Amino acid sequence: MSGNILVQNATMILPSSEAIGDLRVRAGIIDKIAPGGGLEPSSDETVIDASGLHLLPGAIDPHVHFRDPGQPEKEDLESGSRAAASGGITSFLDMPNNIPNAIDRPTIQAKLDLAARKCVTHHGFFVGATRGNLAGLKSVEGMDGVCGIKIFMGSSTGDLLVHEQSDLENIFSNTGGIIAVHAEDEQRLQDRFEHYKHRTDIAAHAEYRDSETAMIATKRAVSFAEDHDHRLHIVHLTSAEEADWLATKKGRLITTEVCVQHLTFDDKDMETLGTRGLVNPPIRYEEDKETLWRRLHDGTIDCVVTDHAPHTLESKSAGYPKSPAGMPGVETSLPLMLTHAAKGRCSVRDVVRWMSEGPAGVYGMDKKGSLIEGHDGDLVLVDLENWRTVTDSDTWTRVGWTPYHGMEMTGWPSFTIVDGRIVHTRESGGNLKGRSVSASGSTGRALKFRVI
Ligand code: DOR
Ligand code: ZN
Repeated sequence: MSGNILVQNATMILPSSEAIGDLRVRAGIIDKIAPGGGLEPSSDETVIDASGLHLLPGAIDPHVHFRDPGQPEKEDLESGSRAAASGGITSFLDMPNNIPNAIDRPTIQAKLDLAARKCVTHHGFFVGATRGNLAGLKSVEGMDGVCGIKIFMGSSTGDLLVHEQSDLENIFSNTGGIIAVHAEDEQRLQDRFEHYKHRTDIAAHAEYRDSETAMIATKRAVSFAEDHDHRLHIVHLTSAEEADWLATKKGRLITTEVCVQHLTFDDKDMETLGTRGLVNPPIRYEEDKETLWRRLHDGTIDCVVTDHAPHTLESKSAGYPKSPAGMPGVETSLPLMLTHAAKGRCSVRDVVRWMSEGPAGVYGMDKKGSLIEGHDGDLVLVDLENWRTVTDSDTWTRVGWTPYHGMEMTGWPSFTIVDGRIVHTRESGGNLKGRSVSASGSTGRALKFRVI
């Protein structure tokens, strides 16, 4: 369902400028942008006085794991979508490692049906590659709500894995659209397992799943893409080596992303984070973190994502290496990036470029990602004056914890708006969780993707 809304007196982050003024959404579409203001309210619209707030296009998170179907104790499409909305994310793309995995038309359709009933935001789904599901991959090619193929080239959470040469050739040579690759080399992981399997200190994780493990798979994936002229997106880039190498490969064919946790944490933080900080690929070292920032600024990396991958605190308490890899993040990614901006790491415009425009461009999401007349009315109003300390109890994610517990952040969304309808509100002095105000399934649509 779409709505009419008038936002007045906002500091608007427009595609090439910043202006204080008004923005009107009619029937879910941005109808008028008025730098300087002056739009008169009409009786059939909701009016927001956004004095002191910044208006951004809704953030798009192209990498989440909402665990639906199969693991409702970790998340489902309702809790995940509400968590996303609370963090200013108006569209998300969800990964296929579910129970059952989303690997063909029936399993994808099942997720689309669940999402239509449960979500409050826009949504799209990856279809997962297996060793033998080429027909399944092809059966959803170009379907509304399907954003691309996901290949795990190294094993991670779940059992999706394709790393043999002939299987990968088969997928790259026989499919269209975009392939998103988790690039860690399975062979190297297996070869080194014996050597690392006795280590129980968390520092072993980044030593075991090292930069070379990531680099081998990234180079392999790029060579498949080049050989078959296939769009490729390398997900969650973590190492300086990959980022510097990809800088030489950028063009029409290859895009990439970085997770906000890899821009924020390094090995020193792992000592305090413990298994909460355990993710695949790992949190690495300061030099990697700094290079990832540099390669974001120079355009090598297209977007900032969360890889929101919730696991219960109980399973996380198993210690290393028994604990599963993954952390939640959709509620905090935009405030965290805006906090980095407030501290001088980047500008608010950069955040819009990396969290709205970038993902819309990578996945061909027309009329999304920018404040432009005629675009969809997906908006977020953030408060850059108010600093709040995050705690586990402030979270919407079903697992009830955040790796950022105790961290002070600014840029919390006061209003998140989907198709011109308010889906989440937060008062500056009130509960940091804010209020989720949209009924399940009443806002948000299956996204459409243009093949690029
Ligand atoms: O840390 C991770 N967790 N990396 C992945 O590749 C999967 C994810 C999950 O689903 O838990
Ligand atoms: Zn992931």
